[in-house]
Amino acid sequence: MKRFRKFTQKRQLYPVHSSSVQGTVGIAALFLLWIAAPLKAGEMPPEVRSILDNHCIACHGPEKQKSKIRFDTLSTDLIQDRAAGETWHDALDVIHLGEMPPEDEPPLSSEDRAVLTGWIQKNIDTAVAAMKSTGGRVVVRRLNRAEYQNTMVDLLGVDLNYSSNLPPDSVSEEGFKNNGSSLTMSPLQLEYYLSHCLPNF
Ligand code: HEC
Repeated sequence: MKRFRKFTQKRQLYPVHSSSVQGTVGIAALFLLWIAAPLKAGEMPPEVRSILDNHCIACHGPEKQKSKIRFDTLSTDLIQDRAAGETWHDALDVIHLGEMPPEDEPPLSSEDRAVLTGWIQKNIDTAVAAMKSTGGRVVVRRLNRAEYQNTMVDLLGVDLNYSSNLPPDSVSEEGFKNNGSSLTMSPLQLEYYLSHCLPNF
């Protein structure tokens, strides 16, 4: 707590426009985006779901699980669930090879095949890109200064400079200021936010 007090004293040298409303909303906004930030990987669109229902679920669903695979409960979050990612990848392969659905079953129309493989491929590509950019870790990111500023203006509807007292954002290797892996929350950063948003903290 000592360090917070130090910050509060220091802040008096640089007076800022802070009210308790701004403080509360600011902290709420910060944590809201903090929690919402992790990449929400490819949810399944209804048209993909219905193709699976019509062509795959009879053998890979609640009743039968051929090859121990069921697609109705298989995770679509390939970043969190790598085993699911492998299974989707197998599915992509067997569809491309024309092995599934099996030959005595009605085949996929070329349109359905394109929709299904397109969605699986996109989901895999997204997961691979995300893993590359963060070394496989899911990054919990904070708002950068510009995002914080815009969020506060949107939330409060009052166009003030809310981010002037925040520390500068570091730039990622690729030169971006909104790369999740460089927007981590250090203890010092948190102190800045707390002292900025909650002046009497
Ligand atoms: C009529 C039943 C049936 C339907 C419908 C069906 N499968 Fe299969 N599936 C099987 C059987 C049986 C196997 C095991 C085949 C084997 O091991 O040779 C299998 C195996 C698989 C495998 C594992 C392949 C491997 O090499 O390990 C995948 C992936 C798969 N199916 C995906 C699908 C997808 C995607 C669909 C829909 C487009 C589908 N299946 C529709 C019966 C079915």
